[in-house]
Amino acid sequence: MTKRTQVAIIGAGPAGLMLSHLLHLSGIESVVLESRSRDYVESRTRAGVLEFAAADLLRQSGVGERMDREGLIHGGIYLQFDGHRHHIDFLDLTGRGIMVHGQREVVCELIRARLAAGGEVLFEHQALAARDLETRRPSVAIRHGDEEFTLECHYVAACDGAHGIGRRSIPAASLSIYEHEYPYGWLGVLARTPPIATELVYACHDSGFALHSMRSPEISRLYLQVDLNEDLANWPAERIWPELRLRLAEKDLLEGEILDVGITPMRSMVLEPMQHGRLFLAGDAAHIVPPTGAKGMNLALADVRALARALVSWFSSGSNAQLEGYTRACLRRVWRAQHFSAFMTNLLHRDPAGDPFTRRVQLAHLSYIAGSRAAATSLAENYTGAATDET
Ligand code: APR
Ligand code: PHB
Repeated sequence: MTKRTQVAIIGAGPAGLMLSHLLHLSGIESVVLESRSRDYVESRTRAGVLEFAAADLLRQSGVGERMDREGLIHGGIYLQFDGHRHHIDFLDLTGRGIMVHGQREVVCELIRARLAAGGEVLFEHQALAARDLETRRPSVAIRHGDEEFTLECHYVAACDGAHGIGRRSIPAASLSIYEHEYPYGWLGVLARTPPIATELVYACHDSGFALHSMRSPEISRLYLQVDLNEDLANWPAERIWPELRLRLAEKDLLEGEILDVGITPMRSMVLEPMQHGRLFLAGDAAHIVPPTGAKGMNLALADVRALARALVSWFSSGSNAQLEGYTRACLRRVWRAQHFSAFMTNLLHRDPAGDPFTRRVQLAHLSYIAGSRAAATSLAENYTGAATDET
């Protein structure tokens, strides 16, 4: 069987769904292929910070209502080290704050909007390969249950995340891969316990990094630095809570029901170029950041904003210029985010191979940021996205 559409989109994460939504607003038809079930996609616990521009994109494209109702606007973050908690006041330093709102909620809202508009989001449809990318008639081979079929299109957007097939459709000789792995991971906990602070707390502790984030006045999102390849079985609730209390210096942190717990490795990756023939990569399919800088979802949304504009330009006027410039348009922002994410990661984690000298230098750096308006402004510009606006 063969189906046709204008743009075949692989992956129903924030990148694929937002791309489909933006194309629809410009009258361009797409089909989103998602290997997982709707239930799975809608219940995954993921990132939680939207930059000003990302929040604005949701709002301006008509899917910001839930975010504006449930999201938490924060004017800054706390950096905690050496027994003190320092406020970095984003509003004062850059004139803008951030929106704390779960990626899961953004995804649910986009799915709802796409389906309400009659859009095709095909769950449990696995893309097997993207083909004929150097011709005018590319296609995607798909498996759904025992059936296999082909989706023909004008363009393929691989928004299929860190383990997708999109990038594998690009000949290795045309691709450069830049990667870095960190020698630790994050244990993430979603718990029914009220947030301990009004804003996020990034804590650099001798026992390792900890982060306190939140989803609502009742639900906290908490992270602990753990060993690389750590086994989740080593982290029962009886170990998680005392460690969080210690690293966050919050002896009153209430133990609540753990709603979700998991371990993620910390890595950085960029693929160049982000396109090949009629295939375009967006979001985690093209680049991965360690979560310390809270950039993953923001980069995914910024990529597809650029890609949607370029595709609209091609479908409306036949102009190839924006599509040709897609990689260049994205990479400045991507590398800025890579630098910032690596900077935050190295600044805040305990290096398992580090010596006492390195540790003191790290504390000196934190102390400089807490005490210098210039240093704090640099962090604030990057965190809020002010450093990469409209690029
Ligand atoms: N066929 C169909 N769908 C696929 C395939 C495939 N072969 N391979 C992967 N997918 C789907 C995954 O199941 C997932 O739902 O692609 C989707 C990719 O979505 P995300 O991983 O959310 O990636 P993206 O939209 O780029 O969003 C990036 O997600 O991991 C976080 O920190 C990251 O916040 C960032 C955001
Ligand atoms: C989250 O709320 O999940 C979150 C917040 C900030 C980060 C990473 C994750 O840096």
